[in-house]
Amino acid sequence: MKYQAEIDTIRATHPDGYNVSCEPQVGEMLYALVRLCQPVVAVEIGCFLGFSTYHILSALAANGTGKLYAIEGRDFQQTFRDKPECVFMLGDSHQLVPTLPPVDFAFVDGDHSYVGLSMDIAALMPKLRIGSVVVFHDTESYDGTLKAVAELPKVFEKVTLPTPIVPERALWEGKPSGITIVRKVA
Ligand SMILES: C[S@@+](CC[C@H](N)C(=O)[O-])C[C@H]1O[C@@H](n2cnc3c(N)ncnc32)[C@H](O)[C@@H]1O
Repeated sequence: MKYQAEIDTIRATHPDGYNVSCEPQVGEMLYALVRLCQPVVAVEIGCFLGFSTYHILSALAANGTGKLYAIEGRDFQQTFRDKPECVFMLGDSHQLVPTLPPVDFAFVDGDHSYVGLSMDIAALMPKLRIGSVVVFHDTESYDGTLKAVAELPKVFEKVTLPTPIVPERALWEGKPSGITIVRKVA
């Protein structure tokens, strides 16, 4: 994986911060999905230090095509910003998503409130093509994300999967995050 060293550094040097990064298995799944879907335009909402971001960027590098529009509201001087596969966007996703080109793949891990995630979904909807894939994180650990994803329109195929409990996310007292993967079919 092109950015394995950066991924390892985030895990090794930010043990507290790592608590809000996704699980290593979710990172591997993002890598595999981006390799499968071969997006031209990928989007991440909520990058934090870049753990998930680096998995997506690594997959785009392996694909040899595609850009990740990486949206994050907080300035952590993230190391992924200047990578060739990345277009970094510092600011509020609710304002930035409407400025994006059509989107083939998205990982949504930003605002976990019901209102905030519903706004992200509403902004993403007109950007998605038939066949576009969106992955939502924390759809079993937050009531707001659970509700917003449950209300997704019927134009999506949808599956929610469990995620393993990993020591780094002990913050959630053993509650699995869960992911929901959707594909626009109509
Ligand atoms: C759970 S963390 C993301 C973890 C990251 N995906 C990973 O796996 O390493 C959520 C991030 O979303 C960002 N965020 C929350 N609401 C946002 C918004 N409306 N616009 C942009 N970023 C937002 C937060 O600043 C935080 O860094």
